Amino acid sequence: MSNLSLLILPGDGIGPEVMTQVERVIDWLGDQRGLKFDVSRDLVGGAAYDEHGVPLADETMAKAQEVDAVLLGAVGGPAYDNLDFSVKPERGLLRLRKEMDLFSNLRPAQCFDALSDFSSLKKEVISGLDIMIVRELTSGVYFGEPRGIQDDNEGGRVGVNTQRYTTNEIRRVARSAFELARRRSNKVCSMEKANVMESGILWREEVSWVHENEYPDVELSHMYADNGAMQLVRAPKQFDVIVTDNLFGDILSDCAAMLTGSLGMLPSASLGAPMENGRPKALYEPVHGSAPDITGQGKANPIACILSLAMALRYSFDQGEEAARIEKAVEKVLADGVRTGDLMGPDGGTPVSTSGMGDAILDALSESAKK
Ligand code: NAD
Ligand code: IPM
Ligand code: MN
Repeated sequence: MSNLSLLILPGDGIGPEVMTQVERVIDWLGDQRGLKFDVSRDLVGGAAYDEHGVPLADETMAKAQEVDAVLLGAVGGPAYDNLDFSVKPERGLLRLRKEMDLFSNLRPAQCFDALSDFSSLKKEVISGLDIMIVRELTSGVYFGEPRGIQDDNEGGRVGVNTQRYTTNEIRRVARSAFELARRRSNKVCSMEKANVMESGILWREEVSWVHENEYPDVELSHMYADNGAMQLVRAPKQFDVIVTDNLFGDILSDCAAMLTGSLGMLPSASLGAPMENGRPKALYEPVHGSAPDITGQGKANPIACILSLAMALRYSFDQGEEAARIEKAVEKVLADGVRTGDLMGPDGGTPVSTSGMGDAILDALSESAKK
């Protein structure tokens, strides 16, 4: 396997549509920048269920463990809503995260200047925004035992999930947040509900322990997650890095998406511990889902997925310059008014389809390479 191996899992709904545009960028990097990726493709989610009866085949799981990075589109959709819980598309994604031990999920929310009028929030609240949510991804209530639906012995049923965090799980994701903060504005805000949950008390204590013992130079604050949600929409620029648990991180990052103008803009990186070659195990995916309401209509915004490739270049392939080139190309097309439907706002702009956005980004990339 080359040292630029990439497994592409387009998934369901708009996943394959946005991934087609990402593959054009990958081809461009190979042709124009000499970055030849060893790309393989496979199925995940409903697409894998249709083929194999499971949302992630063992062979695909094994491949994901071997490559330098996995790039995923999205999973899920109404066609699979009534499947048994154990084979739902989302289980495929959760298996990847758990078995690859991708405990640190980086969800940056950046407001591009050209979109600062587009959010449901006032321009002055979000313009220049650049925050990073670090979401714990392999534990908490998503995976805690006991779990399930049982009889409640009173003629009804009971649904059970368990919020559970260990010292080690909290400390390792806290370290990842502090490390990122050192390369940014040196500020971490940790969010939990220590006022009502024991797991929240432990979270606060362990994050403080890592801070005092290993990162005293970074500014740390704590906030209850409900207040955090409110502060994110009241004054998001007060934050630099936010570190939080699996469920709060899921919700807060969708919330942060609206600070950037659209969920179609938000990329993510899910990182584990370093492999033998020193690189972290990694999976990159947009924060958004399979968007069944716009699937098959050429309306999906591919930017979140393209920016996820940029994150892969930065975190898995030491190609920060090429990552920045992609980010600048995105910035340029937005400044030029190129808009998928989710980005249509007060300035009108030029409406384009998913592939039209891909065309514009490739043009901007080619232009940048000439300079
Ligand atoms: P969603 O993110 O798919 O869609 C929410 C809204 O945002 C929709 O109106 C959709 O049209 C819009 N949207 C999302 N991405 C967009 C894009 N790139 N361009 C333009 N508009 C976009 O969330 P949902 O509707 O709650 O979930 C649909 C399915 O996706 C469910 O099965 C859910 O479990 C799954 N899901 C998967 C992931 C993932 O694969 N990582 C993440 C979230 C949801
Ligand atoms: C996300 C999604 C997933 C999550 C689902 C699809 C399992 O909402 O990546 O944000 O809840 O983590
Ligand atoms: Mn989510």
